[in-house]
Amino acid sequence: MRVAMIGTGYVGLVSGACFSEFGVDVVCVDKDVSKIANLEAGKMPIYEPGLEDLVAKNVEAGRLSFTTNLPDAVKNADAVFIAVGTPSRRGDGHADLSYVFVAAKEIAEAVDGYTVVVTKSTVPVGTGREVEEIIAKAQPDAEVDVVSNPEFLREGSAIEDFMRPDRVVIGTKSERAQNVMRSLYRPLYLTETPIVFTSRQTSELIKYAANTFLATKITFINEIADLCEVVGADVQDVARGIGLDGRIGRKFLHAGPGYGGSCFPKDTLALVKTGADVERPLRIVETVVDINTKRKSRMADKIIETCGGVDGKTIAILGVTFKPNTDDMRDSPSLDIVASLQGAGATIRAYDPEGMEEAETMMANVIWCADAYETMGGADAVSIITEWNQFRALDLERARSLLKAPVMIDLRNIYDPEEMASAGFTYVSVGRARVDAS
Ligand code: UDX
Repeated sequence: MRVAMIGTGYVGLVSGACFSEFGVDVVCVDKDVSKIANLEAGKMPIYEPGLEDLVAKNVEAGRLSFTTNLPDAVKNADAVFIAVGTPSRRGDGHADLSYVFVAAKEIAEAVDGYTVVVTKSTVPVGTGREVEEIIAKAQPDAEVDVVSNPEFLREGSAIEDFMRPDRVVIGTKSERAQNVMRSLYRPLYLTETPIVFTSRQTSELIKYAANTFLATKITFINEIADLCEVVGADVQDVARGIGLDGRIGRKFLHAGPGYGGSCFPKDTLALVKTGADVERPLRIVETVVDINTKRKSRMADKIIETCGGVDGKTIAILGVTFKPNTDDMRDSPSLDIVASLQGAGATIRAYDPEGMEEAETMMANVIWCADAYETMGGADAVSIITEWNQFRALDLERARSLLKAPVMIDLRNIYDPEEMASAGFTYVSVGRARVDAS
């Protein structure tokens, strides 16, 4: 099997590398010349654990290559994946499909023989039909089936999620296209991974429904956390107590500063727009978007209140990426939190294992540090925003000696309140009672 993967971002590059690991011949295509040059030199454009080795191994085996020449890659391919960005359109929150449509047209002009064109990017319901129309218009006698095959990859565990997915969703009614997709996913087929064959629009909606449900689940536990803080309950135990119910499940019940990333914020908004466009408003999702947006700056209030105001004070921030094991800063809660703290007069010192290069382009007047301890030097308080492993077992004695005051606001509930109290800290977290040095 031969595949052309259009787009070498978080989805395209990981999917392309994983398909080549399955034994498929993959050509990854991007318009960005320097990105392709870097990839050919073995330099990854993104941080994703295990990706560099996976790419190197399959390039070495001759199954994976990179090019800017889309027509060449497409004409030799059995399947062409569209894995380009679908960012939120400025202002109205609709998914911006311009990159998808440009790719569809270029693919139409290059296909040679029967080809399956697969939308891997997250696209609103009905996009597959629009892609089909674009291809038919650009190349009326193109022999193409357009298939939806959404990804469910989490940044930081994307390779694992591709290799051992809970399910594969394939949207097409064409037998011929289904057979091509079965061949591509054969290794998963053999490990009895559930493959859901359905219509194209159902497949497109499954992706949005999955992401918005997960965003809703997170927002639910975040609101419960706020209630816990007032009634003196412990949100970690609430999450455990409800999560053990098989109908609820334990995952995605970690209370925190609100969800970020390139998917949940964009996909929740896009689904709200889809519902509004067809006069079926998704009021739960609308509320989730509203609550999550407000939550991020409310976390800054939590820090300000704990410090009795931050004007003229220095706050140490540990972790700025939207989650650990990624360099991705998109819609990270830290962007709102740091801006609010600076607005209240705080000086910010910050450290992140992977995100600082990206963060420097998005945050002004931050003192970037080399590690967690340098960050805490002379600070009036420390706040953990991203739960990197490096922050899970800090030397609390050393931290206390470095901080001006032993105050920690842990927005990811990494630490145990009692341990922090006995270590001499004032410790504030999410959905649990504040503790003072004991
Ligand atoms: C998500 C979906 O999980 C994935 O299936 C989809 O393909 C892409 O979008 P991703 O955005 O990479 O993946 O990260 P994820 O691990 O889902 O976290 C998303 C956000 O939710 C992060 O900001 C994270 O901190 C937050 N989160 C996640 C919580 O606050 N609590 C949780 O329990 C889980």
